[in-house]
Amino acid sequence: PKGKAWGGRFAEQTDRLVEQFTSSLACDRRLYPYDIQGSIAHCRTLARAGVLTARESAQLVRGLQFVKVELDGGRFPFSPQDEDIHMAIERRLTELIGPLGGKLHTGRSRNDQVALDLRLFLRDVLSTLMGQLQEFRRVLVGQARAHLDVVMPGYTHLQRAQPVLLAHHFLAYVEMFDRDRGRLHDCRQRLNVMPLGSGALAGSNYPVDRRYTAALLEFPAVTQNSLDAVSDRDAVVETLSALSLIMMHLSRLSEELILWASQEFRYVDLPDTFCTGSSMMPQKKNPDVPELVRGKTGRVYGHLMGTLTLLKGLPLSYNRDLQEDKEALFDAVDTTGQSLALSTELMRRLVVNKNVLAEAAEGGGMLATELADYLVTRGVPFREAHSITGQIVRFSLEQHRPLQQLTLKDLRGFSARFGEDVLSCLTVRGAIDRKGQIGGTARRRVEARIKELEKALKG
Ligand code: ARG
Repeated sequence: PKGKAWGGRFAEQTDRLVEQFTSSLACDRRLYPYDIQGSIAHCRTLARAGVLTARESAQLVRGLQFVKVELDGGRFPFSPQDEDIHMAIERRLTELIGPLGGKLHTGRSRNDQVALDLRLFLRDVLSTLMGQLQEFRRVLVGQARAHLDVVMPGYTHLQRAQPVLLAHHFLAYVEMFDRDRGRLHDCRQRLNVMPLGSGALAGSNYPVDRRYTAALLEFPAVTQNSLDAVSDRDAVVETLSALSLIMMHLSRLSEELILWASQEFRYVDLPDTFCTGSSMMPQKKNPDVPELVRGKTGRVYGHLMGTLTLLKGLPLSYNRDLQEDKEALFDAVDTTGQSLALSTELMRRLVVNKNVLAEAAEGGGMLATELADYLVTRGVPFREAHSITGQIVRFSLEQHRPLQQLTLKDLRGFSARFGEDVLSCLTVRGAIDRKGQIGGTARRRVEARIKELEKALKG
């Protein structure tokens, strides 16, 4: 049909509905900088192989650069007949420079072209996200440093368990986001392989030097099997999987912030600028940002599952199904990027109600373990010490007196091993500072970890 690059074999026009259904232009147009970068490298490779003259190659490159200027400036004339960004760019190039434009696609298929574009795109995106993760970690370490003296209840089962430093809690997320950064790094390393020259599926008829193309595009290696290269979307799945973990971590943090900002906890205040009110209830200040981060997590998981499902039944090599990978990938990348950016700003401006936290850290019988451990130092086997302390906790609940308020006489009623020095065990600070091993919540440990992280995150 008229206007179609592949129209030669067809006697009839494409149905308009089919054109709409098969088009990916609305989605993949954002690949244009990578597409043009790849095409320029392809031209240079063809010239080096003697398939194009130096003049032809130079003219094609200039044309492509001009098309990029149009796209950058939002002046590119898109046409509904363009199936995707690759066809749109080639069509426009030919309009601009004439029949020579038709030589661009020599020895190339959209299959290896789109595989290349995706890898170039992912390299950029993964680098950006790694930078965002580092910035987020810097903010969290900063907040840990700023709140080094704030104590709080640590939880298991959402029940008060043992007192910890708020800084220690913040640093828990710093560890999670470091693993996330590592996953993105691994993924980027593995995908950094150049697929062009794989053709539609079988390879190239032309004497192209694939390593030269790779060098132009700064890939350290080339793909080793053309069938695999055009049908492989592992990097998309790995990215979606790493993004799912980032979102899972952000969602857990969001959940905590939502709880902590509630009147039931009052541990923190979220900045007004990050909340909204209710159209009906004048008193409301709703934690929309963390709620949406938590909600959008499901969307990213969905893209991971959707893409795995997309791939599971595909015979080698390229199938048009693969076109669906991009909507999932782009949406997951955008959602994660925004969620990270918003969470970073939220944490930067978080207001901590340190007195509420301190008061909470005193309650809940959280020093009971200290009491049991004290008895252990006096030679009582831990199981017996646990049982004695359990009875003391019950007594303290019945008496409506927190453990810290029991007297030595009270305690000695349960075990003769209690001595004067037990009372110093029954302080929140003491309990925290006794957790002095690597990874524990003792103040000096946490401070040392902050120093290490500050050093690692400098610059
Ligand atoms: N728009 C397609 C994609 O994103 C490009 C490849 C089309 N290839 C083909 N043989 N129809 O996957």
